[in-house]
Amino acid sequence: MTPTDDHWHVVADAAALPDPGSLAFTLPRDGMAFFGFVVRKDGEVYAYENFCPHAGRQLNWGPDRFLTRDQSLIMCAAHGALFEIATGLCAAGPCVGERLVRLTVREHGGELQVHLPPRCGDATRPGPGS
Ligand code: FES
Repeated sequence: MTPTDDHWHVVADAAALPDPGSLAFTLPRDGMAFFGFVVRKDGEVYAYENFCPHAGRQLNWGPDRFLTRDQSLIMCAAHGALFEIATGLCAAGPCVGERLVRLTVREHGGELQVHLPPRCGDATRPGPGS
């Protein structure tokens, strides 16, 4: 599905995200808060929901701190799961083989924008029994 302009949300100035680096953001979604983060690495920008597939906790270990010390992986602060930045795949820790929920992101007019459709009809997270 091609994202429509209706669901693009500005999450940060593009210049505010270093390479490598990460920034948290919060967006309204269906009357609730949606927590996410963006990561820049080797010139590419990625965005994920801030939700660990192991136990459903937020990943960061401090404000805007999602990456390992060497900034090569995303690390969950709760139990140390390590995720590939480019794919969201858990490569080590208690949820190996599971993935972060990836979001569509773009740099547009000096801003980082995330595409976030409403939860209804959204297939970004597997449903019960899947
Ligand atoms: S909640 Fe992330 S590793 Fe346990």
